Amino acid sequence: MANRQFDVVVIGGGPGGYIAAIRAAQLGLTAACIEKESYADPKGEVRLGGTCLNVGCIPSKALLQSSELYDQAGHSFVMHGIGLDNLKIDVATMVRRKDNIVTQLTGGIKGLFKKNKVTLLSGHGRFVGREDEFWQVEVVGENGGEVVNAKNVIVATGSRPRHLDGIPVDNKVVCDNVGALAFDAVPKRLGVIGAGVIGLELGSVWKRLGADVTILEALPDFLAAADPAVAKEAWKTFTQKQGLKIHLDVKINKVTQGKKGQGTQISVEYEVGDETKTLECDKLIVSVGRIPNTDGLGADNVGLALDDRGHIAVDDHCQTSQPGIWAVGDVVRGPMLAHKGMEEGVMVAERIVGQAGHVNYDVIPWVMYTHPEIAWVGKTETQLKSEGIEFRAGQIPFAANGRALGQGDTTGFVKVIADAKSDRVLGVHIIGNNASELIVEAVVAMEFGASSEDIARICHAHPTLSEVMHEAALAVDKRPLHF
Ligand code: FAD
Ligand code: NAI
Repeated sequence: MANRQFDVVVIGGGPGGYIAAIRAAQLGLTAACIEKESYADPKGEVRLGGTCLNVGCIPSKALLQSSELYDQAGHSFVMHGIGLDNLKIDVATMVRRKDNIVTQLTGGIKGLFKKNKVTLLSGHGRFVGREDEFWQVEVVGENGGEVVNAKNVIVATGSRPRHLDGIPVDNKVVCDNVGALAFDAVPKRLGVIGAGVIGLELGSVWKRLGADVTILEALPDFLAAADPAVAKEAWKTFTQKQGLKIHLDVKINKVTQGKKGQGTQISVEYEVGDETKTLECDKLIVSVGRIPNTDGLGADNVGLALDDRGHIAVDDHCQTSQPGIWAVGDVVRGPMLAHKGMEEGVMVAERIVGQAGHVNYDVIPWVMYTHPEIAWVGKTETQLKSEGIEFRAGQIPFAANGRALGQGDTTGFVKVIADAKSDRVLGVHIIGNNASELIVEAVVAMEFGASSEDIARICHAHPTLSEVMHEAALAVDKRPLHF
């Protein structure tokens, strides 16, 4: 029997892959998407959505929301005159709610595939070679294997958590993101290695629910990628107001496990300065970054080049070293963010049909869903100084905003940075309630090449948190009206 043929075969059904397949089908191409993981599907069926929907963005945000409500009920309701006795958290219900959201969304993508006539191929995808104008990809699943022919292949195999030598992850006691999203009870003492995005988001979840959380970070600077003013405010809020214990500049020596009562006690031995210390905890999360998934892909079979960091090497348009093979998302250079992968998926599908698909890598927003949220787009002060670019900055606190006061949540600020000569906005940095939504205005402004004066001249609804963006833009020119 002849091999099935497609215009586009996507390997990997995460945000980069499923979006690429849907956009390709919208553009009139025959498209298939290969996915191998069933994650925690009760029927053992393959699930779409990749890391993001199954064990990343969506489940973490569900738990962040539940834990935030619990924290508010325990600490903030009282200022509104709302009293609660006997507040408690039922972790099983919280985790079930999260699982239901995941199930709904992953199933929804299967529905989108049907609607757009994308063929789902369940199994592991691997390049086997080339015949005439087709790349050949083998798919091996539970029901055996087949080889499919593709004019174009889009690799979207994503990433997996990096683990540390000598610290095996069992996802019960020592966990990466997978286990950390499925605890069945609040650990009394939680250790976290890595004060990055996952460490801070998931550390916050379990801290709010009552765990004693200690985070050990290798770098001497906290949140080194963020604007220094944001990192300083975040440090103050997380450590002093919220009680997260964060130790910087540490070197992890070893992790050992012993029995304690019914459970396990973990000992993390680490060095800080000249001292050797030990952190005792009941659960440990290892969140020290992620590595691209290229193993078992058969990259060698088709001469696909990798870059020096193990990503699939691509140009600005996600074209690999081989014509007709493209790669998007976490498996290629750039930030490991779902929206970046989705934009790349759209760009590649459009370029395959000869359109001018494009991603503006300078305007990709970052969001951390801690409380307060942290969001930014464009350059930080540190980057601009090192590049010798002259700028003017305006920074306005939420404490000067009526809506924030009404909401009882005034931590943080908006900072707008603009070019000293042209006034073009170069970066916007927010720490505060709803930063994830507020950053959109800055993204739109920067995408359209706006100046700080453009933002300052836009009518912002009153009373809203977005007025802080307005005031920060005015403050670039030293003429805020409410501060
Ligand atoms: P993935 O989502 O990793 O999907 C790749 C898929 O390919 C997987 O399902 C895998 O099973 C499959 N696959 C791999 N190899 C093969 C093969 N050979 N054959 C068949 N299938 C294969 N990003 C954000 O933007 N916002 C957030 O809030 C956010 N929160 C996160 C929270 C956590 C805890 C984690 C871990 C990540 C988070 N991320 C977030 C990052 C985001 O999840 C990733 O950037 C995104 O999922 C990458 O998409 P992708 O399609 O490149 O890869
Ligand atoms: P990360 O890169 O954000 O943070 C890892 C941290 O671990 C860094 O601060 C690093 O210095 C530290 N580290 C590395 N090795 C260490 C060691 N041996 N000992 C102690 N500390 C060490 O990576 P993280 O948190 O694992 O998340 C992976 C990626 O997933 C993120 O980079 C991000 O792209 C994505 N993500 C995005 C989210 C969002 O957009 N809200 C949420 C969660 C994850």
